[in-house]
Amino acid sequence: MILAPTTDNITTCAVVLRAGGVIGMPTETVYGIAASIQSDEGLQRIFEVKGRPADNPLIVHVASVDEACELAADEYHSVLRKIAALFWPGALTCVVPSAKTVSPRITAGLSTVAVRMPQHNVARALIEELGCPVAAPSANRSGRPSPTTAQHVVHDLGPTIDVLDGGPCTIGLESTVIQLGMDTCTILRPGAVSREQLTQALGYAVDEATSHDDLRASPGTRYRHYAPTCPVVLCEHEDQLLRLASSYRDPIMVLSEHPFQNLPHTAVASPLSESTIYAELRRADDLQLAAILVLCDAAVQRREALMNRLSKAAGSGSHGVSQ
Ligand code: TXA
Ligand code: MG
Repeated sequence: MILAPTTDNITTCAVVLRAGGVIGMPTETVYGIAASIQSDEGLQRIFEVKGRPADNPLIVHVASVDEACELAADEYHSVLRKIAALFWPGALTCVVPSAKTVSPRITAGLSTVAVRMPQHNVARALIEELGCPVAAPSANRSGRPSPTTAQHVVHDLGPTIDVLDGGPCTIGLESTVIQLGMDTCTILRPGAVSREQLTQALGYAVDEATSHDDLRASPGTRYRHYAPTCPVVLCEHEDQLLRLASSYRDPIMVLSEHPFQNLPHTAVASPLSESTIYAELRRADDLQLAAILVLCDAAVQRREALMNRLSKAAGSGSHGVSQ
């Protein structure tokens, strides 16, 4: 059921979390499906409702930097506080060596934990009311595009899940996931916070995870996800896209930054942007379109997080299914 984010409903949702349930929670990036980090039953339930592989760890969402530090190994508190002062609350998830007390259901048995302080008022109010952090992956069924509205969550996870309605997500793509060393930073998943922002704020070079070992460090990046049912094709040039568009007999979707001339009259044309991409991928499925063609010209190709999700939706650079 979709719930208005009233004080009463937030209190009720905290009760559900304490009792081992899960709640759909809005954040500024995408909606999450949250469980109390103190409830093994709730954590287990996340994996069941999502159909998520057990080896894929969860992000812990906190309402204060102190809560984040409690989850991290002592020697990493100062690193975490420094990053928090620069980027939190916000769309940056930090992977650091974990405190011994963190449940292996959260870390999937890794020695690290991922933490983020979301900016969304409703997420913060829920965590504060609960009195402890929540673990929350994106609230899509594994393999589907992440949800950016409460309706998307109900569509994927079913009517029995209660979802606090925080409106459409303003960012619309997941957080940037970084692995922190004492004075190193590696991007495990590009997201709303760019490498330039990180480099500038930290004052040292920020690496990108490319090696096998780095990717093993972030299990979720191995899986195919963000994918609608219909095929997604990325085109670099307008003429290439137009040729391809005219080869379909059934209606297709065309996503481009600027409006397009000369498309087949049956094509559904939509603007391409970070904040609407997942909703558009879902809409194409709802309309049972034959394909989604995306114009990825040079300007779009410079948008790292958007290109990362589009490439995954198009099925490249991935193995197996889902998260
Ligand atoms: O914006 C977001 O990050 C959203 C909202 C709900 O906060 N959450 C999200 O969670 O996208 P999820 O579970 O869909 O993606 C989390 C990613 C996965 O690729 C997972 O493997 C990685 O973070 N991750 C979690 N814990 C990790 C850890 N200890 N080490 C490395 N990677 C980790
Ligand atoms: Mg996800």
